[in-house]
Amino acid sequence: MPPYAFFQKQFMPLSEAKIGVLTHALHYGTACIEGIRGNWDSRQRRFCLFRIQDHYRRMLGGCRILKITLPYTVDKLCRLSVELVNKSGYQEDVYIRPLAYKSSEALGVRLHNLEDDFLIVVTTLPPYLDAENGVRSCVSSWRRVDDTMIPPRGKICGIYVNSALAKTEAYENGFDEAILLTQDGHVSEGSGENIFLVLEGKLITPPSSDNILMGITRDTVMKLAKNELGIDTIERQVDRSELYVAEECFFTGTAANVAPILEIDHRPIGTGKIGRVTAKLRKLFAEVMVGRNAKYPEWYYLVSPKAVKV
Ligand SMILES: Cc1ncc(COP(=O)(O)O)c(C=O)c1O
Repeated sequence: MPPYAFFQKQFMPLSEAKIGVLTHALHYGTACIEGIRGNWDSRQRRFCLFRIQDHYRRMLGGCRILKITLPYTVDKLCRLSVELVNKSGYQEDVYIRPLAYKSSEALGVRLHNLEDDFLIVVTTLPPYLDAENGVRSCVSSWRRVDDTMIPPRGKICGIYVNSALAKTEAYENGFDEAILLTQDGHVSEGSGENIFLVLEGKLITPPSSDNILMGITRDTVMKLAKNELGIDTIERQVDRSELYVAEECFFTGTAANVAPILEIDHRPIGTGKIGRVTAKLRKLFAEVMVGRNAKYPEWYYLVSPKAVKV
């Protein structure tokens, strides 16, 4: 079964979904993306589209920042995604990738007087970071873009150049992932993940004012930590050196899940092995992301694939 796309208001084979070389978003990064997990449960033979409404709410926020107007509600966007997943016929974890973009084939740097469009593609989802065994990280020489430059609370395409610079620098220096600091030297986040520390038994994570994307996995982990483990999360500025003295550190993100960080800047974190709190949160998250914890029905959008019809 060929992969499908939702493109220019209709479903079509992915191979037919093409944009013109003059498309504004291609030249200037004037677009918003989302990344949504469709977790395949082979026992129940269904997908759990995890917190899909929250992803689309966040995307519509990014669209407001970029003055992109879409003719869809959150509910309609969810239904389009379900139809695409059904048509694509996957029976494994998928990654739903919506893109709202400035579609005019026009040159000129601006946000106004341009047309907007929207597409969704769906792909398989190979592991992004080695969340099983833990990752080695480093503090990047690149700084996180500031809200006064390109607002990081939106998943704005142009902003990912900042992430890509940091990720490739880390990779070429032999690390798995980068940690970016803000302009004033506080910890912000990974290139595509939020970051948490366990310090004196408390969970700590940088606040929205330190230029993070307000991650949906971050929010999920904070709620699981409070409800299931009785651990509150403190959202506060984090110094670089606190990373080195933390008992545990981990990244959170849709692609990365809960990924333990075992080493930062050649210093082992805690014992250098996956920590107790991280391990518990990983287990809890693994259950909720496939829709298996009945306490959180509002997080699950369950889809049992139907016969394909186009
Ligand atoms: C820069 C950045 N930070 C954090 C995250 C984690 O956000 P979420 O948990 O919503 O996937 C992502 C993932 O998309 C990201 O790109």
